[in-house]
Amino acid sequence: MPLPNKEQNQPSSSPSPSASKKGKLYIVGIGPGSVEQLTVHAKNVILNADYILGNDTYLDQIESLITTQNVYRSSMGQEVDRAKEAVKMAENHVAVMVSGGDANVYGMAGIVIEVAERNHLDVDIEVVPGVTAMLAGASVLGAPIVTDAATISLSDLLTPWEVIEKRLDLASQADFIISLYNPKSRQRTSNFERAIEIIKRHKPAHVPVGLVKNALRGDEQEFIVTTLGDVLNYNDWVDMRTAIIICNSDSRIWKSPHGDKIITPRGYQKKYEY
Ligand SMILES: C[S@@+](CC[C@H](N)C(=O)[O-])C[C@H]1O[C@@H](n2cnc3c(N)ncnc32)[C@H](O)[C@@H]1O
Repeated sequence: MPLPNKEQNQPSSSPSPSASKKGKLYIVGIGPGSVEQLTVHAKNVILNADYILGNDTYLDQIESLITTQNVYRSSMGQEVDRAKEAVKMAENHVAVMVSGGDANVYGMAGIVIEVAERNHLDVDIEVVPGVTAMLAGASVLGAPIVTDAATISLSDLLTPWEVIEKRLDLASQADFIISLYNPKSRQRTSNFERAIEIIKRHKPAHVPVGLVKNALRGDEQEFIVTTLGDVLNYNDWVDMRTAIIICNSDSRIWKSPHGDKIITPRGYQKKYEY
């Protein structure tokens, strides 16, 4: 049996561009919005980069951390070109690809590592985790997750709609808490409604649903607590900056002193008194 490779699993100390002869490629999750939500390691990696690559939204998010680093900016939809550029730069420089939330959740980790593999890139690659939208949204809503959950993206740009439908169907049959990403775009306006109709086949109407727009993005953050039966009343409110958490049949709406939130009991009530 091969021995586990301990070295590769260790996060590095922060890079120092002046000391680095050989390059390194970081893929950094920058969290849901404000710079305060970055991990300390993610922040250090960005501050010490030779090159930072990202789209406008992500680069604007970390603007206050960009001083002397070179910036490669490209638009949404140009992910493959950006990944190729990052791999080229990383041969001799410390290159940092930034990705919103976490890079492993519908983010840049996949395409960058695929391109690196195809190009036989011989430098160290480190993925730096970030707070994903599902968890940012959950923190706004109280305790809506806490137990088994599935994330499903409603974008059918790279995944056929039939596959998405099957995942929605089976996850709701199994009463998973379902976190929906990419509920809408300018071109895809009906996928959210279609997804809710599928989930309603299996989950009862009383199941709480949290809609969080711009989670942890300061004053831009908004949220709605509703139920599966009523959620389509807010269909027009949902947009591409919204994360949705559809809870399980044990979840309930908590009438907190600061407005409605959501609790999903993990099961302590069956074993303990409190
Ligand atoms: C392409 S996915 C990227 C997800 C990202 N990698 C992550 O881990 O959060 C984009 C979708 O994530 C969700 N999203 C990202 N950031 C968000 C935020 N701050 N508030 C609410 N939803 C967010 C939205 O559903 C959006 O359409």
